[in-house]
Amino acid sequence: MADASLERMGLDYIDIYWIHNPMDVDRWTPGLIPLLRSGKVKRVGVSNHNIKEIRRANEILGEAGFKVSAVQNHFSLLYRSSEKGGVLDYCRENGIEFWAYMVLEQGALSGKYNKENPLPADSERGQKYNPVLPQLEALTGEMTAIGEKYGASCSQIGIAWAIAKGTLPIIGATKERHVIEAAEAAKIVLTAEEVNCLEQLADATGIDTRGGWEHTME
Ligand SMILES: NC(=O)c1ccc[n+]([C@@H]2O[C@H](COP(=O)([O-])OP(=O)(O)OC[C@H]3O[C@@H](n4cnc5c(N)ncnc54)[C@H](OP(=O)(O)O)[C@@H]3O)[C@@H](O)[C@H]2O)c1
Repeated sequence: MADASLERMGLDYIDIYWIHNPMDVDRWTPGLIPLLRSGKVKRVGVSNHNIKEIRRANEILGEAGFKVSAVQNHFSLLYRSSEKGGVLDYCRENGIEFWAYMVLEQGALSGKYNKENPLPADSERGQKYNPVLPQLEALTGEMTAIGEKYGASCSQIGIAWAIAKGTLPIIGATKERHVIEAAEAAKIVLTAEEVNCLEQLADATGIDTRGGWEHTME
């Protein structure tokens, strides 16, 4: 499959090869070793893996002199299971990048949507988040208020929060300004009080946004 991907992309090597889901760590992780040895794959990342699975993947690669370079998990103010489950600490202690996905909860934390202006009702994200938009108002209100202090938007505060937690946010952009705003957000350094305040408001929503494709990180 890697060879076919390289051929389709017209490339000699893959910078980072992601194992998207932890179907069977012992079965699939060893398949990366010959690709790393040949130089066709430079780095390996694992996604949606919990701490036990990350440790095991790192052990398998480690026996061959390689390592897990990056973890890509759902991580937002509303979904901090990778922190609670020890994944963030493990990554920090082992020099592994943590790439955070769905930091803005598909737009629900962008400040653009509320009960008067909901997400498209017929979309999957509308069905998931529209029923809880009223519960998100205190949180997005505070994100917007903190944003005013930094000359930033609600979305940028969500991104700055993920950076403050030591993660690399991967933001889904549907407009050019989303890309510009994401880059600008990297300059915002939130205080510990702001981080704490946002997390308390997030916890108070009582919302669990785990995706149907994810298993628990703990
Ligand atoms: N490994 C996995 O299993 C997995 C799963 C899911 C996602 N991902 C990765 O994570 C990436 C991001 O996920 P995602 O797009 O689903 O969620 P997201 O980044 O939480 O949300 C993206 C949405 O937020 C809004 N947005 C983004 N920047 C904004 C800004 N500056 N101002 C206002 N609104 C803004 C946009 O909504 P509007 O379009 O409504 O404006 C956009 O569609 C994906 O592209 C993918 O690479 C990985």
